[in-house]
Amino acid sequence: MSMPVFGVGDSTLRAVGGEAAVRELVDRFYDAMERLPEARGIRALHPADLDESRDKLTTFLIGWMGGPSRYRERFGPIAIPAAHRHLDIGPEERDAWLACMATALEEIGAADDLKRYLLTQLRHPAEMCRRR
Ligand code: HEM
Repeated sequence: MSMPVFGVGDSTLRAVGGEAAVRELVDRFYDAMERLPEARGIRALHPADLDESRDKLTTFLIGWMGGPSRYRERFGPIAIPAAHRHLDIGPEERDAWLACMATALEEIGAADDLKRYLLTQLRHPAEMCRRR
């Protein structure tokens, strides 16, 4: 049996289950952020209404996973570190963000190798968002 390949073309997006599955992942991600005690701080950095945050993270991740550039189509170009420069993000905030993502991946039933791959890869942009 061959090993799954992620990160080539749209293989990651397909492994997650396509664009609708990314939306499901992001919904679980923000639901976790509303609920997890360690995420209280990063929840407070977001607007009260998370609709736009859900939309923006979904469209961004679709492109980041090798799919169509939905974020750019709808909102224009983005650089993740610059988009977070105004936010007070340190190691705790980075780890809380990744913990929400780990919970969301668990809840959508992502396979262990996919989960490991995504959390390792997402750690890079998360680290770049840190300003302390
Ligand atoms: C390191 C921890 C992170 C924290 C605490 C965080 C927090 C936030 C907050 C509070 C916003 C809303 C900003 C506002 O409304 O002013 C935001 C926007 C956004 N975040 Fe993050 N974020 C983190 C990491 C990431 C990562 C790793 C990605 C992508 C892989 C990401 C993607 C986005 C996108 C696409 C937006 C929308 C930007 C826009 O259109 O203005 N974030 N984030």
